[in-house]
Amino acid sequence: MARVALVTGGSRGIGAAISKALQADGCTVAATYAGNDEAAAKFTEETGIKTYKWNVGDYESSAAGIAKVEEELGPIDIVVANAGITRDAPFHKMTPQQWHEVIDTNLTGVFNTIHPIWPGMRERKFGRIVVISSINGQKGQFAQVNYAATKAGDLGIVKSLAQEGARAGITANAICPGYIATEMVMAVPEKVRESIIGQIPAGRLGEPEEIARCVSFLASDDAGFINGSTISANGAQFFV
Ligand code: CAA
Repeated sequence: MARVALVTGGSRGIGAAISKALQADGCTVAATYAGNDEAAAKFTEETGIKTYKWNVGDYESSAAGIAKVEEELGPIDIVVANAGITRDAPFHKMTPQQWHEVIDTNLTGVFNTIHPIWPGMRERKFGRIVVISSINGQKGQFAQVNYAATKAGDLGIVKSLAQEGARAGITANAICPGYIATEMVMAVPEKVRESIIGQIPAGRLGEPEEIARCVSFLASDDAGFINGSTISANGAQFFV
């Protein structure tokens, strides 16, 4: 039977590429989004992938949304915690609100996405969890104290879950994309973006599909012994 996959932030950017890749792998995919109804409707129309709207930062909404997905599509076998935001500012200008918004979505949002699905995975003795972290969780980044803290925290989540889920057939891994050609990176001022590209030995931004292929692999049955790992996909910009 087709595996059911949930991709948060799955209708745009890296998430959209992941949703499509998992669909091509034969999964039944549910993609969540937070606010852009128009983009979600267009995505569903183009791909046939169902979209669901909720705020990953809110536990009750996540639990209710996940229950609806499972009712409509079946138990979730694969979860890709991809939804993420930036609120960049140098630390001396960063507001508590910018801190909390990023923590709520990128870190608490990962907890809220996995926690309601976890008991079912344990019972069924199968699960694939992939968390989309970032190069900036590995190396830190000017103007991203909030974002880097969450992306480093995401790595702690997968390393701990890997140990807890291993005997129940559940794997938890992270991908650390470098700078990928998405709206998030395109929102960085052009001059800054050019200087970032100059720091990437590959000499280019990555493509969303290059991250999606990593997810496909980690979500596959073949990747059962890879657990608690981080795949860096950054064009040689940074080595751990
Ligand atoms: N390293 C060192 N100094 C830097 C810097 C850097 N990377 N970026 C900016 N600065 C310096 C500037 O040169 C400037 O210095 P001066 O005052 O001496 O001229 C100063 O910092 C900027 O000060 P401003 O008061 O002008 O800053 P601002 O309040 O306008 O903020 C900014 C500007 C938000 C930092 C903007 O430059 C920016 O967005 N930078 C990009 C940050 C970034 O890389 N974000 C990653 C987004 S992509 C992503 O997150 C996806 C992923 O996972 C990879």
